[in-house]
Amino acid sequence: MTDEQLVALARAAAAKAYAPYSRFHVGAAVESVDGEVATGANMENACYRLGLCAEQSALTAAQHAFGLDKVARIAVVGGTDATVCTPCGGCRQAILEAAQVSGRDVEILCASGDGSSVERYAISTLIPHGFGPANLAKPS
Ligand code: THU
Repeated sequence: MTDEQLVALARAAAAKAYAPYSRFHVGAAVESVDGEVATGANMENACYRLGLCAEQSALTAAQHAFGLDKVARIAVVGGTDATVCTPCGGCRQAILEAAQVSGRDVEILCASGDGSSVERYAISTLIPHGFGPANLAKPS
């Protein structure tokens, strides 16, 4: 799948966001090593702190569709202007989980809502020195 196709799937997912409070729609598309894709969008709640981010929604779908161990890359699209939507801190931690489980430095395509720009990052760049499953797997 091309970058443009994966970003387009994330954009389509953003259109299905439930974000009546922030009105900031985010979509994410997770691609497996085999080319399968799972998508998700942010899901807000009247109890604001219970809102779910798009990346975590998509990663949950990915676990059910093909497993975190097959995650290869993720596209994220959010907002309406030219600012690219980079994953929040919590979502970086969730992507790190998939990265360490899969053994891959998961690639993240961050796109702007207006479609004008896409930036490419590796999770190791977005969350250096992260704490993940590898920290817990050491034998005592
Ligand atoms: N949001 C995401 O879905 N992913 C991110 O990485 C950043 C923020 C959502 C949460 C909330 O519903 C809205 O965007 C505004 O913060």
